[in-house]
Amino acid sequence: MTSPDVLNRVAELRASLDYHNHRYYVLDATEISDAQYDVLIRELRELEAQHPELVTPQSPTQRVGAEPSSGFAQATHAVQMFSLGNTFDDDELMAWHRRTAETLESEAFDMACELKYDGLAVALTYENGVLVRGATRGNGTVGEDVTQNLRTIRSIPLEVHGDFPARFEVRGEVLFPLSAFQRFNEERIVKELPPYAHPRNTAAGSIRQIDPQDVASRPLDIFVYGVAEPIGPDTQLGTLDYLRELGFKTNPHNALVKTAAEAADYYRTWLEGAETLDYGCDGVVIKVNRLDLQRHLGQVGREPRWAIAYKFPATQSVTQLESIEVAVGRTGRLSPYAVLTTVDVGGVQVSRATLHNEDYIKAKGIRKGDWVVVERAGEVIPQVVSVITERRTGKEPEYEMPTVCPSCDEAVVRVKNESATACVNAQCQAQLVRLLEHFVSRGSMDIDGLGIKQVISLLDNNKIKDAADLYRLQMDDLLELERMAEKSASNLLAAIEASKDRPLARLLVALGIPHVGAEVAELLSEAYPSMNELMDVDEEALTAIPSLGPKIAASVVSYFQNGPNRDMIDRLGNAGVRLQDEARPERATPTLAGLRFVVTGRLRESSRSDIQDRIKAAGGAVSGSVSKKTDYLIAGEDAGSKLADAEALGVKVITEDEFLALHSQEELSVEPSEA
Ligand code: IVH
Repeated sequence: MTSPDVLNRVAELRASLDYHNHRYYVLDATEISDAQYDVLIRELRELEAQHPELVTPQSPTQRVGAEPSSGFAQATHAVQMFSLGNTFDDDELMAWHRRTAETLESEAFDMACELKYDGLAVALTYENGVLVRGATRGNGTVGEDVTQNLRTIRSIPLEVHGDFPARFEVRGEVLFPLSAFQRFNEERIVKELPPYAHPRNTAAGSIRQIDPQDVASRPLDIFVYGVAEPIGPDTQLGTLDYLRELGFKTNPHNALVKTAAEAADYYRTWLEGAETLDYGCDGVVIKVNRLDLQRHLGQVGREPRWAIAYKFPATQSVTQLESIEVAVGRTGRLSPYAVLTTVDVGGVQVSRATLHNEDYIKAKGIRKGDWVVVERAGEVIPQVVSVITERRTGKEPEYEMPTVCPSCDEAVVRVKNESATACVNAQCQAQLVRLLEHFVSRGSMDIDGLGIKQVISLLDNNKIKDAADLYRLQMDDLLELERMAEKSASNLLAAIEASKDRPLARLLVALGIPHVGAEVAELLSEAYPSMNELMDVDEEALTAIPSLGPKIAASVVSYFQNGPNRDMIDRLGNAGVRLQDEARPERATPTLAGLRFVVTGRLRESSRSDIQDRIKAAGGAVSGSVSKKTDYLIAGEDAGSKLADAEALGVKVITEDEFLALHSQEELSVEPSEA
């Protein structure tokens, strides 16, 4: 029997966790820190472990409960999931409005204006307030049952509270927030995995992952935009308000308008404003607000007459490629780009587009004179995506990558194991300009007032040869430059002075070491808060840093082994640039130091790489196969051959829960097992 105290505490913890989840994931207005949240969820986990009979599928501990599935069952939609008719200009919008007014035999009807989210449509079914099914749209009639994966999205309530029908179905769009997508890709780059290209495709792919644990590691989000059948309120916006009260995430930009002209204004606001949103938005949706009028209007085929999508202009256009030029980057990489006959791509004039590298040009068969499709996606640089070969005249020459650097004329080389071609001349002016531009930029040393023009002017006038020389500049040096008055010169000197005190991670970014961006620099400076230390570590030590891969380690070591680089760093230090971070509080002795782990099988709480990171962070070592040297095998479900190996070798086998419990209580630092 479970005591009433335990029952009460479990209920209290769940209510509190649901409340804070909702504040964090739906309202974006958190009240407690991650650490405070962790304390609560840990207490609940412990109570549920002691009283398994109290675990319910709606418990906040159960979002990632399910085992990987072998496929998805079909999910039939009791009420069809519609698509939307499209308009692309104001005239078509007006025509839709006129038709609708005629059918309704009255001029005035209010409209709900919403954003059109560029994600994946899903239907969420609740029975007695509990999420019982989540399905993809599929063909509108039959989709796939992806309940276990949708449960991992924190902004989807597993249970709602208040007044609601015994059974109802909410519909919405699953999205990968753009900032999270970028971070997700940065983490993949750190782990030396290829980044994903499109947030929408990645969101859709994520929802169809076989393992809910993988889905949970992707910070997906949702906006709900409707219900299958009315649930109380008699308008669209009233329904959305009601859904918000129940705990669903609705969009704050929904608006009510009275006229087609106002709807067109809403469209224009977001045509310009969509770039500021943290999620894909490819237009707006205009809906007749009253549900009774919606019913009266009905639908034609799969498209309701009561709603229309007003899409933003296409982000692809066709134009002619006039020539292929090559730019030299700060690491010497040659970046080919297309010079295009200027064309409008989704409202932006485009005359250049990236061609990435030699292999990309070869793979797409891009040639000078070709008619090409140019695409602009989000804030990404325009790119040439394909060639319209039908429009070739036969005179278009195949492209040859230059064999010498377009800036310094020195021979270029193909980088081993990469698609890149690079200029390896350390004195190459183009590289220096790019490197300095990068050194002074916002995310690096952030030297205000030092743009590319000033950099070129300083180099041309022999005032600097590398970044360290910036810190020796005097007033007179600057005043000799063109268009540099005393005021701006003294501002610039002050900005240079201020930059001496940047954190080590910023300096590491500024150096322009290949593969070292903000994320990697943080990892490096956390592990080695002093440049002098970092300059002498070897690849093995670097790969021991959690989530840092061998390619990055090799790049860092090779950078610091280079004499001129070391010399420049010395000169930076001598000029007063800070080369170490403030001392941090003494870290506790790693609890797993000296222990060797192997992780296998399917885990419940965390992904395998998470556990491996935690082991490494606590000073332990992780290997891929069980040997006599292994101290512990952490075995999940279906552990397979490694479990057999461990048993044969007498290696201790522990479960994930045992590891987490022991690790958090710091009790695992026992003597390593006998070999
Ligand atoms: S309403 C009228 N509202 O667009 C019923 N759909 O082309 C149709 N979409 O599959 C859905 N944002 O996934 C509606 N604010 C919004 C939407 C929206 C995006 C998607 C939806 C649907 C597709 C229809």
